[in-house]
Amino acid sequence: MEEELQRLVATARQEAAGIDDAAQLEEFRVRYLGRKGILSGILRGLGNLPAADKPRMGALANEAKAAIEALHAEKNAGLGHDCGQIRRGPDLSLPGRCSAHGRPHPISRVMRETCEIFAAMGFDIAEGPNVELDYYNFEALNIPAHHPARDMHDTFYITDSLLLRTHTSPMQARIMEGQQPPLRVVAPGQVYRCDSDITHTPMFHQVEGFLVDEQVSFADLKGVLALFVNKMFGSGVGLRFRPSFFPFTEPSAEVDIACVICGGKGCRVCKKTGWLEILGSGMINPAVFEKVGYDPKRYSGFAFGLGIERIAMLSYGIDDIRQFYENDLRFLSQF
Ligand code: DAH
Repeated sequence: MEEELQRLVATARQEAAGIDDAAQLEEFRVRYLGRKGILSGILRGLGNLPAADKPRMGALANEAKAAIEALHAEKNAGLGHDCGQIRRGPDLSLPGRCSAHGRPHPISRVMRETCEIFAAMGFDIAEGPNVELDYYNFEALNIPAHHPARDMHDTFYITDSLLLRTHTSPMQARIMEGQQPPLRVVAPGQVYRCDSDITHTPMFHQVEGFLVDEQVSFADLKGVLALFVNKMFGSGVGLRFRPSFFPFTEPSAEVDIACVICGGKGCRVCKKTGWLEILGSGMINPAVFEKVGYDPKRYSGFAFGLGIERIAMLSYGIDDIRQFYENDLRFLSQF
C-alpha cells in the first residue's frame, strides 16, 4: 500500500503538470480530493487494515492527501482565474479582430471635395471668423441697415454690431480689402441662421467662391460652375441659370442641376420640376468694389455661394438634413 500511495502521488504530480485551464483543474480536484474521490476511498479503506498497520498507513495516506492538495493549490495559484488562455499565448488560428476606424463626416468630405475641385482650377482657400462684424456680413455687401434683404437671413445677433455670420460671403469683402486683383479664392465654413426643419439646421456649411480680374465676364462664371458640376455630379448633368437677386451681385443667378434622383423627369425630391437648386451666384456688384477700394471700371468679377448640406444630400440621396447632426453611427458609418 505504501508503494501504491507513492505511485498515486507521482501520477497526480504528472497530471497536474499537464493541466492548463480551470476546468481541468476542477476535474483533477474532484477525482483525487472529492468526497467520492480516490483519497477518500483510500482513507475509508484503512478501517479494514490490521490494527497494527493502521496508524502508519493512516499517516502515509494523510501525507499523500496533503501532497496532492498542495499540487492543487499550487496549480490554482498559477492559473489564477481563467488565465489558461494567456499562459498558452494567443491562439493564432482565431480570425483577427478589426479595430473601429474613424472617418471624415460626410459634410467634411463634400466640403473637402468641393475645395479640391476649385483648388485644381487655381483657386486659393481661405477661412474667416464665424463671429463676424455686421459690417462684413451686411454693410460691405451692399446690404445696409434696414435693407429688406436682411430679412432673408434670420440673423443671430450677439451685439448690435456683432453676429454669427449668416453666409460665407463676408469673406469677399475681407479678402478684397486686404489684397489687390487678380484674385481667385474659395472660402469654406460654417454659417448660422435661426431656422430648423427637415431642410434647415441652425448651423450649416457653405463654400463661397469669387474671382476678380480685368475683363471677367458671366461666361467665365458659367464655365467655372459647369466644370464644378461635371466634377461633382458627373459629366452630362444638366445645368441652368435662373435669374435671381442678391444685393452683392448684379446680375444674379441661382444655379440648378437636373435632378440627380429622377434624371429630370420630375419626382418628390425635385418637387416635380426636374431641377434642384445648388447655389447662388452673379457678377460682383460695383457697389461692393467701391466699398473695398477697387476701381469698378477697371475690375470685374464673379462670385458664388454653395450650400454644402444640399450638395451632400443630393450626392448621397439623403432626405432629412438633421441626420447629419444626430451623430448616429449607423448613419455615419455608411460613408
Ligand atoms: N450668400 C448667399 C446666401 O447665403 C449665397 C450667394 C449668392 C453667394 C450669390 C454669392 C453669390 O457669392 O454671388 O444666400
